[in-house]
Amino acid sequence: SHFAIAIDGPAASGKSTLARELARRLGLVMVNSGAMYRAVTWRLIEDGVDLSNETAVVSALEAMEIDCGVDGLSSTVSIDGVDPGEALRSEQVNGKVSQVSAVPAVRERLVALQRDYLKTADVVMEGRDIGTVVFPDSPYKIYVDADEAVRAQRRVAIGEVDSVADRDRDDSQRKTAPLKVAEGAVILDTSDHTIESGVDAALEILRS
Ligand code: CDP
Repeated sequence: SHFAIAIDGPAASGKSTLARELARRLGLVMVNSGAMYRAVTWRLIEDGVDLSNETAVVSALEAMEIDCGVDGLSSTVSIDGVDPGEALRSEQVNGKVSQVSAVPAVRERLVALQRDYLKTADVVMEGRDIGTVVFPDSPYKIYVDADEAVRAQRRVAIGEVDSVADRDRDDSQRKTAPLKVAEGAVILDTSDHTIESGVDAALEILRS
């Protein structure tokens, strides 16, 4: 049977880079669960759904066909046959994704799709609740963190408009699956790491 390495952490902590490099070195599929929350958010915005109306969000969600797959060693997501591509990281999506991902029905639907990946592959999956909710029994859990100033600077460096502090607050304070350190997770602070040294530190954690 298949296993998952769970990588969680706040916005711009370096978890995507770490997950990608770990997957590459270990030959595993890298699953970006945030892309799924972003894709649903993108579609709701496209359709003009009132995001403060949970009933409207849930009925729009029920009408969506969500396809998750793999291309090479990376996860893919499309909604009603459309891969949103670059739009997943737009300012609008950055600003609304925490609100959408706080809706329990959204989480339920996407967590099921995330678990489905283990039917076919060993994965490195990154997100906010992978170690706490999606794969709580995984022996491989890393909580990636970095200083707030470092994280804000990383977003500026890639030219994204993204209020990292607001998302972290919302993601940590929501009732369903708030961001927190999972039981059994090891904390890896990437503030002073290069990509290479961060991956080495993660491999060390996974071996221990
Ligand atoms: O870009 P960044 O790494 O900061 O975030 P992301 O992994 O793309 O996730 C975007 C947003 O999706 C987060 O701010 C959360 O609101 C939500 N999310 C979640 O609730 N649970 C997950 N497992 C992954 C993402």
